[in-house]
Amino acid sequence: MEIFAHRGSSGTHPENTVPAFKEAAMLPVDGVELDVHLLKDGELVVIHDEKVNRTTNGKGYVKDMTLAELKQLDAGSWKADKWIGTAIPTLGEVFEVFAETWHDLNVELKTDIFPYPGAVKKVVELAVSHGLENRLVISSFNHLDVQEATGQHNVTGAILASNILVDMAAYAEIVGTKRVHLSLPFALRHGAELIKKGCEVYVYTVNRLDYAEQLRDIGVKGIFTDYPEKMLKEIT
Ligand code: G3P
Ligand code: CA
Repeated sequence: MEIFAHRGSSGTHPENTVPAFKEAAMLPVDGVELDVHLLKDGELVVIHDEKVNRTTNGKGYVKDMTLAELKQLDAGSWKADKWIGTAIPTLGEVFEVFAETWHDLNVELKTDIFPYPGAVKKVVELAVSHGLENRLVISSFNHLDVQEATGQHNVTGAILASNILVDMAAYAEIVGTKRVHLSLPFALRHGAELIKKGCEVYVYTVNRLDYAEQLRDIGVKGIFTDYPEKMLKEIT
């Protein structure tokens, strides 16, 4: 089963920052997952929430900021004093961390609240300019963007929200992918049947070993964990 570092090594480092990604880049995991928003001056930046409030010392919507404004913010001190002065990275800066590694890069486009027109194309172009397109996986809760990405790139994930009670295998086919990212509670209930129907199931966020082993035993293709180092050591 593949292991992805969720928002980098986010259990031990400030999520979605260069220190969290550098830590993950040193681990023999299969990939790393990260979240992307678009700034008002067109730069792609790596942060989970629509607002900077939770993970920085600033306030406000990411979409309303310029890169210069965003770079003033401290995205490390909320986690621990030792990370004071850590900035929010651009997507390009994160790609540079993985330039010489083998890891798959799962870029989750956070376009389900604000649509960020052109974001799919921008991510693909940036990956191509870094020579990383063959390791790029684009996912989103915005399935229109996942559908757009399937036309531009051959390894694409569809994150399907866990409260959608439809035939997800058929739905994923309409979107143009076999790959579905499921929440842990949903995967424990419906993962096995989706795997039987031909889906490649990836599950977030799996921090407990017993759940990881249960998912592996039903044939789950990969998990996202905040503690990749610990998971690698403990999983049998
Ligand atoms: O890609 C899976 C997972 O990251 C989706 O949830 O909220 O952690 O971005 P979230
Ligand atoms: Ca994510």
